[in-house]
Amino acid sequence: MDFSSLAAKYGTPLYVYDFDHFKSRYEELKEAFSGRKSLICYAVKANSNLSVIKLFANLGAGADCVSIGEVRRALMAGVPKYKIIFSGVGKRDDEIEEALKEDILFLNLESEAEMLRVEEIARKMDKKARISVRVNPDIDPRTHPYISTGLTENKFGVDIEIAKKMYAYAGKSTHLEPVGIHFHIGSQLTELEPIYEAAQKVSELLKALLALKIDIKFFDVGGGLGVIYDNEETIVPYDYAQAILSTLSGTDVTIVCEPGRFMTANGGYFLTKVLYEKTSKTKRFVIVDGAMNDLIRPTLYEAFHGVEVVGKESVKSKADIVGPICESGDFFAKDEELAETAHGDLVVIKSAGSYGFSMSSNYNTRPRAAEVAVEGGEDRMIRQRESFENLIALEKDFLK
Ligand code: LLP
Repeated sequence: MDFSSLAAKYGTPLYVYDFDHFKSRYEELKEAFSGRKSLICYAVKANSNLSVIKLFANLGAGADCVSIGEVRRALMAGVPKYKIIFSGVGKRDDEIEEALKEDILFLNLESEAEMLRVEEIARKMDKKARISVRVNPDIDPRTHPYISTGLTENKFGVDIEIAKKMYAYAGKSTHLEPVGIHFHIGSQLTELEPIYEAAQKVSELLKALLALKIDIKFFDVGGGLGVIYDNEETIVPYDYAQAILSTLSGTDVTIVCEPGRFMTANGGYFLTKVLYEKTSKTKRFVIVDGAMNDLIRPTLYEAFHGVEVVGKESVKSKADIVGPICESGDFFAKDEELAETAHGDLVVIKSAGSYGFSMSSNYNTRPRAAEVAVEGGEDRMIRQRESFENLIALEKDFLK
């Protein structure tokens, strides 16, 4: 990828996405489940750009959404309504109503209270809501605590015992139709064992429900497939699929999975330019024009992202790469071996395609970066750089 030309053409800071890489990730995962009916619902939160969602929709993917805004994005990008699922612990009434009106595939329920709310809203609308219950299998996913979700100390899903009660209730309701069963134990999972254990536990519940004639059609295994940021070992899709499928013999359910990071992390790059270098008594700092408002993962999760100064091979010494924001947490890398830099040099931050732009903000009144897609050797803008005018648009008329 010619980062220098892209930076010259579109300016920095800039997100660049390799759409061919995104495609190959989708295909690899789809292929892994090829022995069975499967639906890959791309987790829109990882990278919500409309053109990214559209790319996956064109390949046949569905969408996993966690707000009505994400559902609207998915519909707008061409995801068929019957491939959209809606998850999340706190859906508002208006979100539930709109999801039912749009007739999406199903809602993933995360509490008994939410189930009753959905039933009530469906009754008012004279509809039958297709639902699935998110089960918390109480398994330690062995990932960063902020992105771990499958333990009872986490706010997500319900215990198996409660799930059973919910299915029994929903099975009899005239306004609820239980069609799926769901779990998601965490993100950036790099070990197979916890996924296998979770699938095993939840598949036992599935089989019990099928025996009770509750017609579950979808086995939703959530997202979480880890990717390589540094040199960690992670799970390959084939083993992932085999581990899950091995728990489902004797059933005919369709596999649903909700990958976000696996699809877009490694194909994304964040380009930023060097403004200055400075050295304190103890540290060398490379100050760049991107900041934590653009990519918050390093400071929020102490996440590692590979960095490279374009066109400079020889490593000089350890440095911190920092942005212009007034916070000590504004960094992309700490104590990384880095070439000597000069004003205008280009730094590439790697594996930034997931939870990069989608978690960005306007902190310090910084317009958010532009986004560019590269596909088949051609590049195109998929989101314009924000302007100062965009940032104040909703305030300026209130100035007295
Ligand atoms: N399904 C559910 C119900 C989820 O909560 C998530 C992610 C996914 C699917 C997609 O997970 P993935 O395949 O991307 O691991 N901001 C954090 C990650 C938060 C993940 C939240 N839920 C980060 O930057 O590491």
